[in-house]
Amino acid sequence: MRVLGIESSCDETSAAVVSGNGDAVRMESLVILSQDVHRIFGGVVPEIASRAHLTAVVPVTRQALADAGLPATGEGIDAIAVTHAPGLVGALLVGVAYAKALGATWQVPVLGVHHMEGHLFATALDQPEAVPPFTALLVSGGHTLLLDVAAWGAYRLLGSTRDDAAGEAFDKVAKLLGLPYPGGQPIEQAAENGDPSRHRFATPMLHGGQKPGDEDYYDLSFSGLKTAVLRVVRAADAAGHLDEERPHIARGFQDALVATLAEKTARAARAFGRTRVVLGGGVACNRALQAGVQRAIAPMGGVVFAPSPKLATDNAAMIARAGHWRLSQGDQSDASLNAYASLPIPGLRA
Ligand code: KG4
Ligand code: ZN
Repeated sequence: MRVLGIESSCDETSAAVVSGNGDAVRMESLVILSQDVHRIFGGVVPEIASRAHLTAVVPVTRQALADAGLPATGEGIDAIAVTHAPGLVGALLVGVAYAKALGATWQVPVLGVHHMEGHLFATALDQPEAVPPFTALLVSGGHTLLLDVAAWGAYRLLGSTRDDAAGEAFDKVAKLLGLPYPGGQPIEQAAENGDPSRHRFATPMLHGGQKPGDEDYYDLSFSGLKTAVLRVVRAADAAGHLDEERPHIARGFQDALVATLAEKTARAARAFGRTRVVLGGGVACNRALQAGVQRAIAPMGGVVFAPSPKLATDNAAMIARAGHWRLSQGDQSDASLNAYASLPIPGLRA
């Protein structure tokens, strides 16, 4: 089965073609057009995002078909998978409306895919061993989710952030430090030259007394850490030392955030006896995070799988891959397929 995927939930217009059977699904093409325009606003502007998707969705899809050696007329495509939630509704609607129009024209099934389920499938496109059962840590600009994945379609949501997403914390702290948006990579680079002992920030939502069953055992929170960084930045700025302190502050912030994410992920892996941890979302590109999680699960023989940067950030290949699996289970959307700003991941178990 060959599936065309379309993703337009935030600020990337993306299309991809995947094909195969079972877990042997390979990527035939992937086109990602990032909307750089939002950089000048320091965050995604929804109305601008929708308009940019509208301009880009047709050429991006045609390019993905061409890269896969397929005609623009749809021959060779068996189904279309499109992100329909969660995300910016105006942005999602562009992809959904286009997918429905293509499906009707080509006479192929269309399936709405949950964006976060897509992230769970992303790494498997790169690394065949990144398949269930595993512990998943999805960390992006909009989401921070810790899940147990017993099988494809069988998910247990263990923890999430109570305030800012992990990527959002990177972006906000970068802004405080006078680094560009999006802030994840600039902070990671600055932190490489930072002294880890200079600014030790408390690890958020993490203390030794936590037990399985406690509400805060898996949950995360980053706004307190951001406020702690703000205080240090203000003091350094007032003393005229911000330039010298920047790498040290970036390092202290990243260390605290990574320590929390790594420990909570290790707790989840231990509780469910998982030896694989799969990372997803833009923050999964962070090498200190990859190394921190690997260190935390090493004592139980665990291995971390991190997607390549192209598959970590928002992309249509993961949507096509998740859609491929759901279609193989007999799922299909009808003409009422719509876009939703928020929606629980399908397949959640209590
Ligand atoms: O998944 P993504 O591309 O978009 C969504 O938010 O859905 O994630 C973008 C986020 C941004 O907050 C960005 O700062 C963060 O991922 N990011 C990183 C790194 N690269 C991107 N955070 C930490 N370290 C990185 N190397
Ligand atoms: Zn995403």
